[in-house]
Amino acid sequence: MRTRVAALSEIPPGTSKEVTVGDQVIAIFNVAGTLHALDGICPHSGGPLAKGRVVGQVVTCPWHGWQFDVTTGRHCLAPRIRTDCVTIVAEGDDVFVETGDAG
Ligand code: FES
Repeated sequence: MRTRVAALSEIPPGTSKEVTVGDQVIAIFNVAGTLHALDGICPHSGGPLAKGRVVGQVVTCPWHGWQFDVTTGRHCLAPRIRTDCVTIVAEGDDVFVETGDAG
């Protein structure tokens, strides 16, 4: 299911934004003008990844410091740990995500 979640102007380069689609929390990151989106709930203990500090393409979870590459969802030190990537598309000033819901 494709859902408009934000205006591109709300997520300038170097920023992130948390959005919710149904019951799914999604973290959107703008890294140097390219959008990336991950499951917004940290797989460690549920921290809000969109509220983490981003340096380059690495986000640090604000709760206990786990770090993830926002382009792959992989934990930086333990690549077997990962958070799901979410498909994200910008068209004009509209930002859409694709989620698994059939509806
Ligand atoms: S909840 Fe993210 S590092 Fe613990």
